[in-house]
Amino acid sequence: MCGIIAYKGKNPAAPIILEGLKGLEYRGYDSWGLATIFDSSIQQEKQIGKISDSSQTKTPKGNIGIGHTRWATHGGVTQKNAHPHRDCTGDIACVHNGIVENYSELKKALKHHTFISETDSEVIPHLIEENISNGDSFEDATKKAAQLLQGRGAFVVIHAKLNTIIVVKNGTPLIIGVGKNEFFIASDVNAFVQHTKNVQYLDDNEIAVVQKDLHFYNLKSGAEIEKKPITIDWEQEVSSKQGYDHFLLKEILEQKHTIQKAIDQDQSNIQAIAQDIKNAKSVFLVGCGTAGKVCMTGEYLFSSIARKQTSACLASEFPNYQHYLTPESLIIAISQSGETADVLEAIDAAREKNSKVISILNVFGSTMMRESDNYIMVNAGQEQAVVSTKATTAQLAVITLLAYAVDNNIQTGKLLLTKTAHSVNDMLNKEYEKHIKKLAQKLKNIDDIYLIGRSVNYPMALEATIKLQETAYSHAEGFAGGELKHGPIALIQKGTPCIVLVANDDVKNEVLANAMEVKARGAYIIGVSPENSDVFDFWVPVPDAQNASPIVNIVPIQLLAYHIAVLRGCDPDRPRNLAKSLTVK
Ligand code: G6P
Repeated sequence: MCGIIAYKGKNPAAPIILEGLKGLEYRGYDSWGLATIFDSSIQQEKQIGKISDSSQTKTPKGNIGIGHTRWATHGGVTQKNAHPHRDCTGDIACVHNGIVENYSELKKALKHHTFISETDSEVIPHLIEENISNGDSFEDATKKAAQLLQGRGAFVVIHAKLNTIIVVKNGTPLIIGVGKNEFFIASDVNAFVQHTKNVQYLDDNEIAVVQKDLHFYNLKSGAEIEKKPITIDWEQEVSSKQGYDHFLLKEILEQKHTIQKAIDQDQSNIQAIAQDIKNAKSVFLVGCGTAGKVCMTGEYLFSSIARKQTSACLASEFPNYQHYLTPESLIIAISQSGETADVLEAIDAAREKNSKVISILNVFGSTMMRESDNYIMVNAGQEQAVVSTKATTAQLAVITLLAYAVDNNIQTGKLLLTKTAHSVNDMLNKEYEKHIKKLAQKLKNIDDIYLIGRSVNYPMALEATIKLQETAYSHAEGFAGGELKHGPIALIQKGTPCIVLVANDDVKNEVLANAMEVKARGAYIIGVSPENSDVFDFWVPVPDAQNASPIVNIVPIQLLAYHIAVLRGCDPDRPRNLAKSLTVK
C-alpha cells in the first residue's frame, strides 16, 4: 500500500505529481502529500483524506518533487503522519512505501533528532541527515541509511540544496519513466504512462540516482548497473467512470467482456503451464484476500476436473507449509496487482528451494511477473475500485481453463468458458440489476447475513462474504453447507438472511438440504441458482455454467453488495480502512 510518485524535469513538478497521485489512490487513500524543491528550500503540502476529494489550491513551485498517498501502518491518520517526512534541518524530504521493521531500534540511536510523526518512515530522512552530518555525500548517506533498514520497502528522497532524486527499492515496486530531459518515478506505470512509455525497472536492493542522467547501483556492493530502457506497450487505462456512478459498478458490468478476454490466451503457454502442473510433485496455489478464494476454488477444480492434487494456501500462512517445497514443487501465485507482500514472500521461499513459480496476474510489469518463471495475464484491465470484481472472475476463468488443460481437455474448457462469458453478458441486463436492487432493498438494514455453498461454491461463499463486508459493511459469514449444523446454525433466528450458492452439480441436493435445515429455524433463504426451488424465499437466477458456476454465482453477489452499499450511503469505490494493493505483511 501507499503510492509514490516523483518528478524531475523542465515542467512544474506539482501538477504532474498531483495527477499521478490520483492514479495511485487505489494503493491507499487516508492522506496524501507532496514536496518540491524551490529556491533551495522544500515546499510542502499535506492533507488528510483522499486526493480526489481535496480542494487543493496551493501548488508548490519547483521542477523537482515527490508525492505520496498513504495507507496507514505505523501511526494514525493525521496530517503529521502523512508523507513526505523531513529531517531536523528540513532540507531532506522522503516518501516511503513499506515497513521499516527495525524502526524503533533505529529511532533510539537517533534520540538527539526531533521526530514529528509516529511513523516508522520518518527514521529514513533522519538517518540520511545523520550520515551527512558525519561527512557523507547525499548519495552515500542515502545508501548507508538504506542498508540499515529491515523489511520490505521502497523510498524516494530529495535534498533542498541538490537537484537530485534518489530512489531505493527493496521489496515494493518503483519504476522510472524516462522522458526527454525529464524523469518520472512511480509505484505503478499508470501514474506516468501518459508522459512516457520508456521505463526502467528497479530490482530489489538497487538504488537509482536521478540527476541530469540516470544511474543505477547495487545497494550492497555499490557497483554501477547498466540498464537499458524498455518501451512498454501500454496505454494509460481509461480511468474515468464513463458515465457510471462508481468505478465498482462499471467494473462489475465490464464482466460482460472480461471473462472472454481472460480465456483468449496463447494456448501454447497454457499447455506448457499445464505440463508444469502435471510434472510437479507438489503444487501450491498461493494468494491473499479475494485471490486466496480463487486459489481455494482452483484446488477444487484441479481435483474435480483433472484429478490433480494441489494445496491452496493463504500467502500469509504459507510460512507454515514452505518446508514442503523442493525443486520438484510448483507455486502458482494468484494476484491481481502482482505486488502483494505476503505472496512475494511465498515466491521468495520458492526461489530459495529452487521450486518453479508461475503467476496469474492482472498488472503487466508487476514484481511477480518479473520474479516468476512464467505467467498468465488475466487481461481484465485496470481495476480502479478497491473491491476486486472483474479481476476475480478473470482469475476464476483462467484457473478453470488450466484445470481443463491439465486434464488434456483444453477445448472443452474453452467451450464451457466461452459459453459462460456469453451467459454473463446476457445476465447483466437492466432487468437483472432491478431484481438485485429489490433484494438490496430487503437487506439494506440487516446487519448479519450468512452464506453457504458446497464444493467449488464453498470458496465462493467466502468470497461473497468479502464482497458484502468490504463494500456494504455488512456482517457476513460464509460456511461450507455441511458445517452449519456444527455450530453456526445457533445464530439463525426468524428472518435471518441466508444466501445459498447452488450449481447444477453433484452436491446440489445436499446444499438445498442444508438450506432447508436453516429455513426450518426461521431463516430467509436467498437462492443463487440456475433453477428455482421451494426452499427459496427469494430466487436470484444464474445461468447453468457447470464447472464454471463460481463465475456466474459470484457476479450477482458483487452487484448485491454494490447496491446495498449505495443504499447505505457507503463509498463503494474507496471503502474505509482498505487498500487495493497491500505491499506490507
Ligand atoms: C487487498 C485487496 C483485495 C485483494 C487482496 C490481494 O486486500 O483489497 O481486493 O484481493 O489485497 O491482492 P492481490 O493484488 O494480490 O490480488
